Amino acid sequence: MSLILPGMRLAPSRLSRLQFVCRQCLRHQSPKASSRILQPSRPSRRHASTTSTTLITTKRQGLSANFFSTSATVQFNATTSTATHASAQQLSRRAFPETTSSKSVAYWLLGSAASVFGIVVFGGLTRLTESGLSITEWKPVTGFLPPLTQQDWESEFEKYRASPEFKMLNSQMDLAEFKKIYFMEWSHRLWGRFIGLSFVVPTAYFIARRRVSAPMAWNLVGISSLIGFQGFIGWWMVKSGLKDDLFAPGSHPRVSQYRLTAHLATAFVCYSWMLLAGLSILRTRRLLANPADSMKLVEALKHPAMVPFRRSVAALTALVFTTVLSGALVAGLDAGLIYNEFPKMGLGLAPPASELWDKFYSHKEDGSDLWWRNMLENPSLVQLDHRILATTTFFSVLALFAYARRGRVVTVLPKDAHKGVTGVVHLVCLQVALGISTLIYMVPIPLAAAHQAGALALLTGTLVLGQRLRIPKSTLSLIQKKLAAMPK
Ligand code: HEM
Repeated sequence: MSLILPGMRLAPSRLSRLQFVCRQCLRHQSPKASSRILQPSRPSRRHASTTSTTLITTKRQGLSANFFSTSATVQFNATTSTATHASAQQLSRRAFPETTSSKSVAYWLLGSAASVFGIVVFGGLTRLTESGLSITEWKPVTGFLPPLTQQDWESEFEKYRASPEFKMLNSQMDLAEFKKIYFMEWSHRLWGRFIGLSFVVPTAYFIARRRVSAPMAWNLVGISSLIGFQGFIGWWMVKSGLKDDLFAPGSHPRVSQYRLTAHLATAFVCYSWMLLAGLSILRTRRLLANPADSMKLVEALKHPAMVPFRRSVAALTALVFTTVLSGALVAGLDAGLIYNEFPKMGLGLAPPASELWDKFYSHKEDGSDLWWRNMLENPSLVQLDHRILATTTFFSVLALFAYARRGRVVTVLPKDAHKGVTGVVHLVCLQVALGISTLIYMVPIPLAAAHQAGALALLTGTLVLGQRLRIPKSTLSLIQKKLAAMPK
């Protein structure tokens, strides 16, 4: 659609040139003027307005020079300039702006990120209430309607009764109970559909109306594709819980922990992308509003002491994300239901090596997959991994806090970045406290859901901090241009 629209818009502008500008008259025009009329080139909105001003000026000059010329010439000039002005407007509308300055685009992106935050927590609740496997089919379009008649409900319940979860876990469940878990999963899927539509439709609009810059348009298209992909992963994950070949006889039916991790990771990436895109628009606006101050910030961020600090924040963000992935494995394997104490795990800080590197999980005769299978599939080691990563994250944040308060960094670090570091310290303390409580109390639903939200909040903190330490080259060149255009 967005590819077709510009072409459609161009058509009338081409027509107007051919229909309303007399070719013979054009030959009499100065070559400079006619070339301007016939080949207006405008790579940007800003450039567009400059060219259109030139055209209007040319028209005015033409009129004053030929003041006593025939009315036909005057009419020609008027017609030509109207046509070129119209085509200039058409083209200026066609070109992508140099920067996305629309506040509404920024707030829409941040609103979408908030919606993804909400669905992540709701998805966690769906998993914790064991509602996720209640809908046994994937109907992306027609599935937005819940069963409406008693017959529909009976039929849905019948399908669920054939699933391993019902047979192994919920064989006593009646229709009224089924309706509760069904509504939970149905709401989760409906929310997903809402996120998809409320993102894709405005994306098409903003791109067609050229309300966003070309790089931002690519970002929006990328996010839209990721949302679609997330829907697919969601179903791929649910499917793994509907077959009974994944779990040993008698064990608790659950979805593949790998697919659950992929689903959570994609949601986190989607959220981060929306958040950063929205924040970057607001930040660029702020920087352009006061270019002189912004240049001081640029100088501060260019300081050599900032390079390792910036890298440390990037490494911390990657560490938080890795801890999140390991947490998803804990959740996927229900590994939070064992070793419900902290910091000990049984008699020591870690379970015995024979338990951590159990041959039971190896699929190969030579045991070459022993280490990674245990790291990803053995609940004891998966929990230990999460503890180690979480503890490393915690101490890394404390180290960053100390780093921000010593040497040259303390003097050059912008004020908002200082605040950002303090914010991350608070978030990691809260997250560790929530994690330990979730474990000690054997994963109660409110604590586990809060722990999941805390992970997203912590990631937000590191992303916001990282953004405060960077000014993209494109933004810098806009600031410089704006500064150069300002009266001395
Ligand atoms: C930097 C700190 C931490 C981060 C970023 C983090 C992140 C996460 C994430 C994303 C999940 C998956 C939640 C879900 O899918 O429902 C999770 C689960 C879990 N985490 Fe953490 N965590 C951290 C610290 C801790 C600590 C210190 C502990 C306790 C030792 C802990 C214990 C757990 C447990 C038991 C679960 C499973 C909860 C469930 O089954 O729903 N976490 N964590």
